[in-house]
Amino acid sequence: MEKTSEKFEFNFDKKKVLIWGFAEQGKNLLMQIPNDFDFSSKYVGFVDSNVSFWGKTYMGLPVYSPLQIKEIDFDYIVIATVKENIRREIYQQIVSYGISVERILDMRREEVLGTAANTTYLYRHAWLKGFAEYVSMENIQGNVAECGVFRGDYSKFLSEFFPNRKLYLFDTFEGFSDSDLEVERNIGDDRFVNNAFNDKEIFNCTNEELVLNKINNKEMVNIKKGFFPETAIGLDDKFCFVHLDMDLYQPIYAGLEFFYEKMYGGGVIVVHDYNTGSLPGVRKAIKDYEKNYKIKLAKFPIGDYYSIAILKI
Ligand SMILES: C[S@@+](CC[C@H](N)C(=O)[O-])C[C@H]1O[C@@H](n2cnc3c(N)ncnc32)[C@H](O)[C@@H]1O
Repeated sequence: MEKTSEKFEFNFDKKKVLIWGFAEQGKNLLMQIPNDFDFSSKYVGFVDSNVSFWGKTYMGLPVYSPLQIKEIDFDYIVIATVKENIRREIYQQIVSYGISVERILDMRREEVLGTAANTTYLYRHAWLKGFAEYVSMENIQGNVAECGVFRGDYSKFLSEFFPNRKLYLFDTFEGFSDSDLEVERNIGDDRFVNNAFNDKEIFNCTNEELVLNKINNKEMVNIKKGFFPETAIGLDDKFCFVHLDMDLYQPIYAGLEFFYEKMYGGGVIVVHDYNTGSLPGVRKAIKDYEKNYKIKLAKFPIGDYYSIAILKI
């Protein structure tokens, strides 16, 4: 059996976290947590400079004014905004309240992603580890791909759990394409698409080097930078595991069209965000694929709340 690294462990710590930013990014940190998670055991509330938010609550968590920071019992404060200049200003402001810099975290840093999404990551990664061991034990052939890599925080686990397989990583590394977004506007909530995806700054804070730095066995990695599915043209390979995590209808549909036929029997495509209400294009892509190809895919949840797995029979 292939040996997967023992490094992976659940770091579900009990630190109390305060979120600076009551706008979308701050709330999104909570959105990544499954419904049954007890928020109050980790998050203690929000802080925002906007006076109209003070006293409000979201998922039971209160919004405080910055001046109340010293009275709140917390271990870390996460700056939850993607705009570089605003992040810097908030950082200075928090420091000016006497909070030590070790307690100030940026939402894009890995430890915050790990903290915020801890429970969902825990289930998602536990399933992946188990599946990788199963693939090896059952001698299922094929390589591995991820479409939608962003900062490589899932890719590093793919590399770790499938150490002897080639790993293809597809991403523009510059965020979503205008043509995909245009299609999405006719499917999802126009405002959500415009806010969450149109801001190039949110998803272009990555590059190939940043991703590769997180991966130990780089020689197995093949980065396919650019617009998918164009970057897949000419790729003649077969797969045991594919992660489709590109959020929108068009690339998810294209991913199914490209990969489903290339899966070995017993192999699995995991489609993230199947259950994410704000991303209806993902589920629609699967349904349309089934309809257009007159096929009933063998689907099952993997227990992380968001994803659906498709088993190639
Ligand atoms: C949600 S992120 C992926 C997150 C990553 N899988 C993780 O778990 O950390 C979605 C990514 O899909 C990429 N993406 C979306 N549509 C794409 C397309 N048509 N071609 C290439 N990349 C695309 C975006 O650039 C973005 O980085």
